[in-house]
Formats: sequence, structure tokens, C-alpha cells
Amino acid sequence: MNKNWWKESVVYQIYPRSYKDTSGNGLGDIDGIIEKLGHIKSLGVDIIWLCPIYKSPNADNGYDISDYRRISDDFGGDEAFDRLLKAIHNSGLKLIMDLVVNHTSDEHYWFEEAKKSKENKYHNHYIWKKGNPKTPPNNWQSVFGGSAWKWNEKTKEYFLHLYTQKQPDLNWENSEVREEIYSIIDFWLDKGVDGFRMDVISMISKRLAFEDIPDSMPIVELMEKFYSNGPRVHEFIKEMNRKVLSKYDIVTVGEGPGINLENALKYVSEKENELNMVFHFDHLFIDYGPKGKYDPIPIDFIKFKKIFSQWDNLLANNGWNSIFLGNHDFSRIVSRFGNDKDYHFESAKLLVTLLMTMRGTPYIYQGDEIGMVNVAHPSIEFYDDVETLNAWKLAEIEGKDMELFLKLVHKQGRDNARTPIQWDSSKNGGFTKRKPWIPLNKNFKMINVTNQEEDPHSILQYYRKMIAFRKANKTLVYGEYKDLEPNHSKLFIYKRWDEKYMFLVAHNFSDNLQEFSADYVKDYTLSSSNYLSNEKQNFLQPWESRIYFKSKSC
Ligand code: NOJ
Repeated sequence: MNKNWWKESVVYQIYPRSYKDTSGNGLGDIDGIIEKLGHIKSLGVDIIWLCPIYKSPNADNGYDISDYRRISDDFGGDEAFDRLLKAIHNSGLKLIMDLVVNHTSDEHYWFEEAKKSKENKYHNHYIWKKGNPKTPPNNWQSVFGGSAWKWNEKTKEYFLHLYTQKQPDLNWENSEVREEIYSIIDFWLDKGVDGFRMDVISMISKRLAFEDIPDSMPIVELMEKFYSNGPRVHEFIKEMNRKVLSKYDIVTVGEGPGINLENALKYVSEKENELNMVFHFDHLFIDYGPKGKYDPIPIDFIKFKKIFSQWDNLLANNGWNSIFLGNHDFSRIVSRFGNDKDYHFESAKLLVTLLMTMRGTPYIYQGDEIGMVNVAHPSIEFYDDVETLNAWKLAEIEGKDMELFLKLVHKQGRDNARTPIQWDSSKNGGFTKRKPWIPLNKNFKMINVTNQEEDPHSILQYYRKMIAFRKANKTLVYGEYKDLEPNHSKLFIYKRWDEKYMFLVAHNFSDNLQEFSADYVKDYTLSSSNYLSNEKQNFLQPWESRIYFKSKSC
């Protein structure tokens, strides 16, 4: 196993519009991030990943880019970005940017030109199909609902958009498109950014037959077989790597819907020269029913553990894993995988213990460090996210029980993770002095950074402790991993070890006391726990996490 700085790093993800507003427009901005660098640094993380801040009409909050080389004025513009990059580097941190090149905004000049005529220089930058306005070329649905094809009257053709209508998919078959993208990547790397998180990179190569999808195919399978892993995806990523990425000492992580245990190594194996890591979604799609996130099924905990073990096993000697439990597209981790009511502190602390003791690079999403929880607004008017709003419209058309659907939005909606960071108990949680772009979670007076700074036992302090613990113990980064109780329905107990040290990590994912065998920890010393007292040695208290340690020489 080769050692690398990015394997030993901890990443902190920022969703800029919800971080901290300094300009007073109700939207988080770059100066807000600069203001809060002290907070970020104090966590002990190494890398900041910034969700998109480029020029964009924001049909999908920045994942629809209209100018790849410019920073949106909403966030402070180009000059603010240069200051941010400098400030990040001056504090010893690194910065990775979001690279969104499966699609552009329809307001990007390439598309504005492309739609004018078939002869236009940029027409072939996108994916077009002949037809008539009533019959789309196939039955593909956008990930956000509705046909994935939109009619363009000017050229009497459809264009493909796997996301919103305002996000036309780029035609990666066209080498000019690829060259433009590589030059954009060069632009940012030359500026000094330290890598990229590549948005839906598994989807850039299309299956050109554009065959219909069988009606009954579950969404996760459909992703794997129709939208992702197209025939030239590896050729394209290898080319990108050869022509640009390999020239810099950077880190790359590909967002990978459709990437699974069978195909992941093609993306991340060291000998493939493609990406350093991917985000797979096996554990985050775990509660998706056949129709996706708004058709949820209960989380199968044994399966959850198995997913971690299988991925660890796959990448043990080749490639590298990303360890994460949530981001801006999923609900809050403590609400989803913990118990945000009766064991809020305990379960939030358990989850970070899990993140910091797995093999792979851990990613923390903003707000999780204070245990921010899901939000339950009283009606759909409070929501902003295009995915949520589209799903809502579709549910209405399908005649669904909308009261029930609102409950699903409370549970699964992306805005759960997008409410502003709760800095203190002042108006708007200290996020903005004006009207926030999206309402805060009402609990900000209780859950906020300032409160937790003052409390030595807060979630925030525990995050710092756990991150420091991982950074001090390389065994937790590179060491072997084994699940000792794969079939236990409540406990997650695993070993991490190398030639010198052994760690035994035990988590109780339940609201009840759980017995665990004393044999596991014979000769070990307890080195950390999320409870203050551990009197009952052989029992784990609800949502308790313990880390035991021994040196092999003893
Ligand atoms: C994945 C991003 O994380 C999500 O927020 C976005 O909507 C889609 N890709 C489309 O770019």
C-alpha cells in the first residue's frame, strides 16, 4: 500500500451558500468561509472541499455552471476566491473544487450557441436526437423526474439532460469538448487548487444506442446499467489523467452513482491511472426502494456493515476508499443513522468515531460537527431544492397522499442537509443578518457552534478529539480491518491493526444496553469512548462507541 498525503487527510465539505453570509444578501459567501477558517482549522481537518461556486443561474444550486472560469459574484467573485485560496494555504489547509462536467448550464455560451442551429460550431458539444415534439427519443427519465429529453424547436431536435432541463449533458464523444474541459482543469490547477471532487463522473460516457429502459428496473440498477459506466468512461478518465491530472500533485475523488463492487477498481486501481478515490453509494442508497429515495425501505444494519466490509476488502491492497455517511444530497447523518431525539449527542459522536476509525479518507460534511439534524418544515413552500420540488409535483400528479409525502420530504429531502450552519443563538443562528436564502432549522438556539465551544463534552469537542486521534494513529489510516460480529443486528465491532498496534472498535447502534464479549478486549486498554463513564465493561450503553488499544509488543 503506497502512502500518500491525501490518504492521511481528513476532508471537510462546505456547501458555501449555507456556511456564513458576510455580505448581507442571505447567502453564504467566500468571505464567510475566510471568517470561519479558524473554526475549520480547529477541527484538525486537512482539506476543504467546496461545492460549486462558479457562475451559475442556480437551477441546481451551482451544479449548473454557466462559466467554468469565473466565480459567481453572489459568493464574492474572482478576487474573493484568490484571497480564499491564499488564506486556506496560509493556514496549512488544502482546497479541492467541485468539477461539474457531465453537463453545463443551458445558460453556458456553448449551449446558447449550440441550440441555434445544427451547423453551429458548438452544436456537437451536446447530445441531440431527431424526432417530433410529442415523442421523445426513448423513455429515459431525468434523475429529477420527467423525460430526460427536451425539445429544441430551433433545430427540431431533442437534447439530453439527465438532470434538470437547465443542465444539458455534454457530448464527451467530441474531442473538442474534452480538450475544453482539460483546459478548464488546467486553469484551476495552475491557480493552485489541490484537486477535484468530480460530479457524476461515472456518467460522462453515454451508451449511444439510447435503448429504452425496462419499466420495472429499480433505480439503482438503472444507474449502473444505463446512465453510468458507459463504454468509453475509462478511456475518457484516463485521457484526462494523462493530459492534465498526472502533471500535478493533487487528489481526485469521483462521485460515482452506478459504481459498484464489480466495477470500482477500474476507476481507482493504482495501475489504471484514473482517480484516487470514488464516492460509491451502496450505503447511502441502502434505504432506497425500487423507485428511489421517496420509496424508502428500512435500513438493514447487517447489510450496512457488510457494505463497509466489502468495500474495505475490495480496496485493501489496491485503490483507496472514501469514508462518508452524508453530504449535501442526503439527510443529516445523525437523523439517518443515529437517534437524533433520545441519543443525539451519543449517536452523533458514535458516527464520527466510525468515520475516523475506518480505512480510507474520511469526509465530514459541514454542520455534522455540531450534530445538526434534519428539518421538518410545515409545508412545501419552505423548500428550495429542485429535486424535492420536482418529486413533489410528480407525487401530486400521481395523486399521492401529500401529507404522507411531506413526511417523506422530512426524512429524505436534500434540504435537510442544506439549512444554514448554526453558529450561535442570535437571530438566524449567526448565519446572516438578513433573510436567509433558506430557512434555518428552528433548533439553532440549542444546537450551535458557540454553545458547543463552551461545553467540554459537546459533539464539536468530540469531533476534534476523534480527528486528532485518527491523525495520531496511522494504524487507523492504513491498518488492516476485520468485522468481528458481521451478523450482530445492533453491534458493529471491528479490529484495525498493523505490525505494531491493534485497535478494537465497538459501536452500539441501538437504544438499549448491549452485551459484548470480554474476550474481544482481553489485554487491551480502553483509549477512548463517547461516554464519560464505562462502568459496565461488558456492556455497551445506547449508542456507545469505544476504542481499545494494544501494542503488539506487549
Ligand atoms: C451530484 C451533486 O452532488 C448534486 O447536488 C447535483 O444535483 C447532481 N450531481 C447534478 O449535478
